[in-house]
Amino acid sequence: MLQRAQVKTNRALCREHFVVSFTVPSFHAATPGQFVHLGADGEDHANGANVTASCARPNASSSGQGFAAPFLRRAFSIAGLRQAGEGIEIDVLYRTVGVGTHWLAALQPGDAISVMGPLGTGFAKPDPKSRVLLVAGGVGLPPLQWLAESVRHRGGRALGVSGAVSADLVAVPKAQCVSAIGDLRVALEATSSPHDSSPPWLIATDDGTHGFHGNSVDALGAVYDRFRSSLAGWTVCTCGPEAMMRAVSEFCLKQSIPCFACLERAMSCGTGTCQSCVVALDDDQDPQGWRYRLCCIDGPVFDSSRVRW
Ligand SMILES: Cc1cc2nc3c(=O)[nH]c(=O)nc-3n(C[C@H](O)[C@H](O)[C@H](O)COP(=O)(O)OP(=O)(O)OC[C@H]3O[C@@H](n4cnc5c(N)ncnc54)[C@H](O)[C@@H]3O)c2cc1C
Ligand code: FES
Repeated sequence: MLQRAQVKTNRALCREHFVVSFTVPSFHAATPGQFVHLGADGEDHANGANVTASCARPNASSSGQGFAAPFLRRAFSIAGLRQAGEGIEIDVLYRTVGVGTHWLAALQPGDAISVMGPLGTGFAKPDPKSRVLLVAGGVGLPPLQWLAESVRHRGGRALGVSGAVSADLVAVPKAQCVSAIGDLRVALEATSSPHDSSPPWLIATDDGTHGFHGNSVDALGAVYDRFRSSLAGWTVCTCGPEAMMRAVSEFCLKQSIPCFACLERAMSCGTGTCQSCVVALDDDQDPQGWRYRLCCIDGPVFDSSRVRW
């Protein structure tokens, strides 16, 4: 579904991460792991009139210039979705790295953007029996954040490990940050309530300036060392840099833990036409033992044990 959305808020979470919320009149049912393809709204943005940098946003204001919308749409995981009056409000969490994300950071409440979605195949729909340990690295947080909320909202259990380079790049809301592994015990053993859908996240930083000292794969190993028996039957879901997801996948294979990874591939069309987003997957039915799938329609979520990293 392609439609015009209106930006409601656009605010900083930390030095480089922002969350933009926008409203659309309606939206097909979506599951965590699915994504939207965002672009300029043709009418309002054709001459760049609405994409002037905001002084309130450090990355946008530092250059003192406006940011033109990218020629191609950019894919963003849905980080949250809720009914808002007559419409639907969608959150997208992003890290400012290039043309598209600087354009996003410059958007103001009331600006119009073009939204295509929901796209892709997400994580399995959670139920009260879901037990999910999330492992996020960098800007891999958004799909896992919505997954965790959905799992807990349906009475399942979810907790996360979120890695960042340093404390000033942690995008998890402060109230959900856990600094010590021992503090995860309550979340592991308590039954979650639909009224408290905010999961706890163990923060790991490469430089040790917040929480666990190490990356999110080290933190995952440490959490399993500490709580192995309580985590029997849990599934790991991961999103972040591909090298990190590969390491998470290898850890899970060794430990016989089911693991699903939400991949990011360069996506031009997002709808299965351009073939730019292939992923090689093991496939017993294929004579060569593997075949390509499209990240934008068969994924972005895949059983990580089948991905040819
Ligand atoms: C299914 C899917 C979901 C995605 N979800 C999100 C999301 O929730 N939030 C989000 O921020 N992005 C997400 N992305 C990535 C997003 O589509 C953009 O590629 C990314 O935000 C960079 O776009 P840009 O136009 O700012 O950078 P570009 O101008 O395209 O790239 C500028 C430079 O930054 C580098 N670069 C690109 N991405 C990154 C990165 N993540 N970290 C460091 N350097 C980078 C490029 O190699 C290039 O050198 C997702 C991608 C896919 C396929
Ligand atoms: S992005 Fe075009 S086929 Fe996947």
